Amino acid sequence: MERSCTTNRVDLCERYCYRHKYRMDHLQHSFSDSRLYQETTCYESGISAIAERLLEAICVAFHAECRIPIRDNSYLQFCAYADQYRREDREYLQDRHEDGNLLTLVKASHEGLVIFPRGVPHKVDILEDEAIVFTGSLLTVLSGGRIPFMDHAVRNPPKSVSRSSLVYFVLPDLKVPYARLTDRSPVHLEALANQLHQGFGNRPFTDK
Ligand SMILES: [Fe+2]
Repeated sequence: MERSCTTNRVDLCERYCYRHKYRMDHLQHSFSDSRLYQETTCYESGISAIAERLLEAICVAFHAECRIPIRDNSYLQFCAYADQYRREDREYLQDRHEDGNLLTLVKASHEGLVIFPRGVPHKVDILEDEAIVFTGSLLTVLSGGRIPFMDHAVRNPPKSVSRSSLVYFVLPDLKVPYARLTDRSPVHLEALANQLHQGFGNRPFTDK
């Protein structure tokens, strides 16, 4: 279970993660033969390439070289908002937060996403052939504050609906220093990334 950074209330969904960096370990298990696993790896292959292109475009906008390896540190997450977890007293199934990463790419089966540009809630509809991209605070730091992170949440619908989403969290290799996109000053993202990830109730990405 994860929770929003700002409260102790857990998100009202189940989560399943796939990490490309563990793919060789997966091959030792029979689930890697399943159609679900095969389609997951296929999706990760496509979405990671899109994320790399997005980061390249951002670096180009800053006239900076893009040297940000992401694939082995990013991960795919399937969120299942089953009806059994809904509670009447919650405005959101997942409270307002930002993801503490570089980017997040989301596809969802139903509406429910809310973003907070300049703090104002705004409903988002994602069509079947669309995804939405959120910016995270690691990108805010990397861009010297030029790219703000986007808070978001998942609304608790007035009546029951089984909603699922497929989320790709884009994270850089945290063991290497980066140059800020603005003034090229050195920046280390490891401590901040770990701190933010632990804020959701997770273990840190990296150990000492
Ligand atoms: Fe999120």
